[in-house]
Amino acid sequence: MVDLILRNANLPDGRGPVDIAIAGGRIMQVAPGIDAPDAPQIDVTGRLVSPPFVDAHFHMDATLSLGMPRLNRSGTLLEGIALWGELRPTLTQDALVERALRYCDLAVSRGLLAVRSHVDVSDPRLVTAEALIEVRDRVRPYLDLQLVAFPQDGYFRAPQARAALERALDMGLDVVGGIPHFERTMADGAASVAELCRIAAERGLPVDMHCDESDDPQSRHVETLAAETIRHGLQGRVAGSHLTSMHSMDNYYVSKLIPLMAEAQLHVISNPLINITLQGRHDSYPKRRGMTRVPELMAAGLNVAFGHDCVMDPWYSMGSGDMLEVAQMAVHVAQMTSVDARRQAFEAVTTNPARVLGLEGYGIAPGCRADLVVLQARDPLEALRLRARRLMVLRAGRVIAETPAEVTQLSLPDRAGTLDASTIAPPAD
Ligand code: FE2
Repeated sequence: MVDLILRNANLPDGRGPVDIAIAGGRIMQVAPGIDAPDAPQIDVTGRLVSPPFVDAHFHMDATLSLGMPRLNRSGTLLEGIALWGELRPTLTQDALVERALRYCDLAVSRGLLAVRSHVDVSDPRLVTAEALIEVRDRVRPYLDLQLVAFPQDGYFRAPQARAALERALDMGLDVVGGIPHFERTMADGAASVAELCRIAAERGLPVDMHCDESDDPQSRHVETLAAETIRHGLQGRVAGSHLTSMHSMDNYYVSKLIPLMAEAQLHVISNPLINITLQGRHDSYPKRRGMTRVPELMAAGLNVAFGHDCVMDPWYSMGSGDMLEVAQMAVHVAQMTSVDARRQAFEAVTTNPARVLGLEGYGIAPGCRADLVVLQARDPLEALRLRARRLMVLRAGRVIAETPAEVTQLSLPDRAGTLDASTIAPPAD
């Protein structure tokens, strides 16, 4: 019994046009011309149908707090942390939940149906953890929210962080976080990585650390993270977020580091929008871009995902929950302009972060969850170029968000008519 059929879809891997038959919230069949005349149908001819966007790195507790209590004047990571520290004692569960739910609405409208959010556990009241656990439960029918216990002020540096982090994990946060480059010394940073990996191994949890978010080429905590991953047998369960110091590292050292990261099967999470705005702030000219070495890490076989990191918070005044904006920034910053590289950029906001989060049933194949996004574009490259509209977002086979196609009415001399940007292509040979 088929519940719904999408007719004539283009798939991200180039298959198409194909039909997608859905039953019981799962994909039942993917094939051309599926025979089910009585099933409800949606015609998606010429449209890309993708699995949903996934954000591997976000801060749901800080989102939409821009200007509270004031704006970040220097634009630096450190002023952002200080500002957040001013806001934190005033946070209430109701306000946190309300902001997070509003962001989730925006995310769904953009076809973003899975988010890994760091949750600051520096305040021993743990109001952030309480609030985000409530949000995780409330959005579960339409969005997968994974929560990282994140000691924003430093695991050793903040006096109550160690106990608070363990309590947050006891409450049910999903992932062990860290911030080694923000500890008082390099040695403390390395010790925090070792301690947090031990906790994760004992609890059977994944690890995702803010790691080396700095222009300092001597910030090498990712090396310790890889070594501790191997020591504890955590291969494939540990992610290094940001890794911006790798941008500035000596090439010879990197030639040793990347194979070590590959041996540890580290996931790499880069945050292009935030890295390009926060890094290089101490440079005059030339100014470093700061983003980690995405193409080189991908070429070495590491799973690289992109994160949005921030939307309208103490660190970043922009953003709109659009993972195609994130991928588009990565293409520019890392000069990922070849056809293959642009395809990889699309994968870095879909399949690659789905691997980081370990999402069950992600993809377009029989048995996968019928979570799908219909885009106003023919293929992933066009979706990326246009930051194409999400015409329809489906969760478990049900339409949960719809946006009209973008069509402009032109009134030009001799050229009156409608314009759909997704139909403009170079002349055929
Ligand atoms: Fe972050």
